[in-house]
Amino acid sequence: MEDKKSRALVIGELRAEVPVIQGGMGVGISLSGLAGAVAAQGGIGIISTAQIGYREADFDEHPIETNLRAMKQEIKKAREIADGGIIGVNIMVATREYERYVRAAIEGGADLIISGAGLPMKLPEIAGEAKTKLAPIVSSLKSAEVIFKYWLKKYNRLPDLVVIEGPRAGGHLGFRMEELEEIDDAAYDEEIKRILTRVREYGQQHGKEIPVVVAGGIYERKDMEHYLEMGAAGVQVATRFVTTYECDASPAYKQAYIDAKKEDIIIVKSPVGMPGRAIRNAFMERAKEGQIPHGKCHLCISTCKPAETPYCITEALVNAATGNVEQALLFCGSNAWRAEKLEHVKDIMDEFR
Ligand SMILES: Cc1cc2nc3c(=O)[nH]c(=O)nc-3n(C[C@H](O)[C@H](O)[C@H](O)COP(=O)(O)O)c2cc1C
Repeated sequence: MEDKKSRALVIGELRAEVPVIQGGMGVGISLSGLAGAVAAQGGIGIISTAQIGYREADFDEHPIETNLRAMKQEIKKAREIADGGIIGVNIMVATREYERYVRAAIEGGADLIISGAGLPMKLPEIAGEAKTKLAPIVSSLKSAEVIFKYWLKKYNRLPDLVVIEGPRAGGHLGFRMEELEEIDDAAYDEEIKRILTRVREYGQQHGKEIPVVVAGGIYERKDMEHYLEMGAAGVQVATRFVTTYECDASPAYKQAYIDAKKEDIIIVKSPVGMPGRAIRNAFMERAKEGQIPHGKCHLCISTCKPAETPYCITEALVNAATGNVEQALLFCGSNAWRAEKLEHVKDIMDEFR
């Protein structure tokens, strides 16, 4: 008989009855609608702060200020849907003026900040005494060690939660192109085990319970069971939630997932300088041929050089969110081809419960 027993994910005083964090998805894919719905079902809803203000009238004029304002509004709206559930934000380390986003998230009352796409070395310094939980995303034991050592030495602090993001995830990926083309799941499971052991050791040495969740390619309950059996406290799931009624993306974006076949999921080079995973489309073919002209810089990523970038990643992701899917970068995880129809968040959460 299938074991339907589940465990709550506990992060300090926060407690999610279903050990599922909905992964942050920018631009405009995980906003208050999706995050609120997941939180209301006992999981943790995460709003992506990446260019979150893209729908606002003054976005082109003052992108950063608009984003900071929109972030607070989205946290508030998510709380109204969440029915007392847990709402966090995902802020990429590579975000221009990262510090201001972290401060705004705390002012906006986010329960936790999950931060990857770079190592969030200074996150504790920016967050200070705030009770907001701090969670780095790591893809290797090496990156986990670097963060733990630095946070302890500089701030006498440890993460409240660790997200291990593997090579099957969506969005930007912390792996080399070659590693992504030949994924060895068994070898990566060994890396996960090493990280779990090391985090447990740090926790024991410093008297702190540090839950670890695994992300990347978790689509069904049995995938979650696999990682819980290995000792993870929960999972972070993103791709599965895109094809929900509640997801904030346009219907055309969701349909692109439903229509995609396995061979349409490709690894692309993002202007951010990291590889990413996306659905093959006319835009990706055009990007291979040369620079795609773009408008004024939207001040998203600190590593982007607008004059040299092959395309503007903000424009490409806003096109995805708004449904102009042939002119878009359609980020997705390795399982995006599996979606056959739209689902309700409640049904997914019931499967994982
Ligand atoms: C469309 C999309 C957008 C994403 N955007 C972000 C992001 O802005 N920041 C981030 O840290 N991770 C981002 N991710 C990664 C997810 O948060 C998550 O960790 C990962 O996709 C989990 O794997 P799964 O999609 O196979 O469930 C994104 C993923 C997807 C599919």
